[in-house]
Amino acid sequence: MQLVLEQCMIRPWRLEDAESIARHADNRKIWLTVRDLFPHPYTVQDAHEFLQRAMSEQPEMKFCIEIDGAAGGAIGVRPGQDVHRYTATVGYWLGEQFWGHGIMTEPVTAVTDFCFDNFPLRRISAEVFSSNPASTRVLEKAGFSLEGRLKNTSLKTGSFSILCCMPGPNRLGQSGGLREEKRKRDACATVQNR
Ligand SMILES: CC(C)(COP(=O)(O)OP(=O)(O)OC[C@H]1O[C@@H](n2cnc3c(N)ncnc32)[C@H](O)[C@@H]1OP(=O)(O)O)[C@@H](O)C(=O)NCCC(=O)NCCS
Repeated sequence: MQLVLEQCMIRPWRLEDAESIARHADNRKIWLTVRDLFPHPYTVQDAHEFLQRAMSEQPEMKFCIEIDGAAGGAIGVRPGQDVHRYTATVGYWLGEQFWGHGIMTEPVTAVTDFCFDNFPLRRISAEVFSSNPASTRVLEKAGFSLEGRLKNTSLKTGSFSILCCMPGPNRLGQSGGLREEKRKRDACATVQNR
């Protein structure tokens, strides 16, 4: 799977991404926004272990966000289990030097669409700590809506919000290249309806 977007590319992980991931991921500001499974400090050895797990996963659901030719962040989808098997959660991070450039909305939109197109999912959700308005905004721009806030549930910030989205025609057109794709599809539909 490879998705070429306006400011980055989504692609499978490679073992040689380890140094770049460790350089960006070794950041307490990132660790504060994610689960404790994410190591801190984050070493090259941690990156190797992550890459081995991610690259052996079938189907492949964890991807590199490549910016300017190197791994600059990560995005992954975790399928639900048992009665939740038609659902999944999405998680992501970007190296701090890339924050605030409007990069992340497009990967979230594109990977969510990819998952709805390729897996039998009825819902993809994200859990965002209440102290992270930037991520909440990214999800809203990617077509997710707020479902609720859970209090006293997280050791890191006390509470978090759940945002989710379902497959459907409204999924496309939230950002950049995907907006262009929707425009083309709409134009085709207009021609076909004549
Ligand atoms: C969260 C993260 C992915 C955002 O990615 P990004 O590419 O920097 O996001 P953007 O540049 O599109 O900015 C996000 C939006 O949040 C807004 N925003 C940023 N900080 C904000 C704040 N403190 N309060 C309110 N809105 C804020 C921005 O203005 C922007 O909205 P806009 O496009 O309507 O102006 C990135 O900061 C990151 O990787 N953080 C660490 C890891 C993380 O939080 N992962 C998600 C865990 S759920």
